[in-house]
Amino acid sequence: MHYDMSPLRLGILASGTGSNFAAIAQAISDKNLNAQIKTLIYNNPNAGVARKAEQWKIPAVLLNHHQFGRREDLDHAIMETMTAYQVDWVIMAGWMRCVTSVLLDAFPQRVLNIHPSLLPSFPGLHAVKQALAAGVTITGCTVHHVVPAVDSGPIVMQAAVPIMPNDTEATLHERIHVQEHIIYPRAIMLAATALSRN
Ligand code: GRF
Repeated sequence: MHYDMSPLRLGILASGTGSNFAAIAQAISDKNLNAQIKTLIYNNPNAGVARKAEQWKIPAVLLNHHQFGRREDLDHAIMETMTAYQVDWVIMAGWMRCVTSVLLDAFPQRVLNIHPSLLPSFPGLHAVKQALAAGVTITGCTVHHVVPAVDSGPIVMQAAVPIMPNDTEATLHERIHVQEHIIYPRAIMLAATALSRN
């Protein structure tokens, strides 16, 4: 742990069930990650993550992409919300949208994503299904810096997950999730420590 740094001010972008959001909140509460979640931004009104934010008493902001013409307009609204909450690290945890330089330029080297494969294998949608279809015996998850090209920024941390003969997409994704919850809080701290030394 690096308590010589002030707590990282995280803004989470998520729109799924929010298990990674909850894992990060739990790591902070357990003092395994020196950070605060300042806000959650989600883009799907029915996303389970909104309930998780309520449970953790973290302000949640719905920015529905259907209400924005261009990707840049949505990213501009994200940037303004993050800035209003004085966020300094943007953490994508199940944010299924491509982000543009509008957001990336506002948070240089401070946007992270988690992806359910060992990148550079199986980028893009349905990464778990892709791994099963390819017949590989090991897959996993990757935390990486976000760059304009999808799922291709510098890697911060990875965890491997073996594929079992009877795995379905659901059983495999469940085991990948377990590893995601372990590595994401660690990767956030690692990326922040590396940046503070630059
Ligand atoms: C995770 O598997 C993550 O790798 C991918 O989306 C999923 C989000 O899961 N980008 P959750 O909403 O955090 O449970």
